[in-house]
Amino acid sequence: MLSYRHLFHAGSFSDVFKHALLTRLLIALGKKDKPYFYLDTHAGIGRYDLSHPWAQKVREYENGIGRLWGRRDIPAALAPYIDAVKAENRDRRLRFYPGSPLIAKRLMRAGDRMVLTELNRTDCADLGKLFAKERGVVVELLDGYQGLKAHLPPRERRGLVLIDSSFDRAREFARIVTALAAAHERWSTGMYAIWYPLMEPGDMRNFERNLEKTGIRKILRLELAVMPANSPLTPGCGMLVVNPPWQFEDEARPLLEWLRQALSNDGAGGVKAEWLVPE
Ligand SMILES: C[S@@+](CC[C@H](N)C(=O)[O-])C[C@H]1O[C@@H](n2cnc3c(N)ncnc32)[C@H](O)[C@@H]1O
Repeated sequence: MLSYRHLFHAGSFSDVFKHALLTRLLIALGKKDKPYFYLDTHAGIGRYDLSHPWAQKVREYENGIGRLWGRRDIPAALAPYIDAVKAENRDRRLRFYPGSPLIAKRLMRAGDRMVLTELNRTDCADLGKLFAKERGVVVELLDGYQGLKAHLPPRERRGLVLIDSSFDRAREFARIVTALAAAHERWSTGMYAIWYPLMEPGDMRNFERNLEKTGIRKILRLELAVMPANSPLTPGCGMLVVNPPWQFEDEARPLLEWLRQALSNDGAGGVKAEWLVPE
């Protein structure tokens, strides 16, 4: 239990996909003049040193952020995400990778509020140190699914929940559906972004069916595959966005297509930006 450490995977294509979309969702929330709430249920350590032996073991970042670093043709929609990575690497050498909490903190305005839950004691301590002096940020050693019960609905009545599980236990898809259904009952107007790996077609169909059975409407499905479906490695990943910003699918589609071209080998893989359950 909790053997997963995100430092092995930091900056991978999955992180690029997830953080590029997270950036766009938070920018959309920040357009309104009212404060928002951001809950990161599986927060990690916040900042990853890519020179650490764990990150160096498989060097997943080389096929993720490493492929974007130094490119001069970054599309405007991706620029705020790349700026967040640049902010951690002022000397232009790619060494540190910001996790979701640092990316979100950069976009937060005075008055917005952020709660970060993390269940790994060591990782949570690192995260706590990183945000010790930050106003508007609370770090809790807590199961993220318990965190949903503890913090929803938020007093701001608007905001985003990121559910970014490490998928290191069996039945995680089922756990996510149950947690989302309960959270949505407490707070039906909130925005939820749920990351998942692309697994066997049967697992994915079950996940979809179980989501549909919850009765939740307005679920957008965004996926990026960077390898052929029959690859022995996880071919790609996805994000469900419940209650996405207006026309977010049209914003996400070209961004994901650009990422596919940048991150896949020989043009393999594909992109989805479509409603799993419409309004
Ligand atoms: C994929 S990583 C998070 C990465 C982070 N969201 C980011 O984008 O930078 C998943 C994290 O969830 C933590 N974790 C695993 N099970 C958890 C649970 N039930 N509740 C909270 N955190 C959990 C792991 O220790 C790990 O740090």
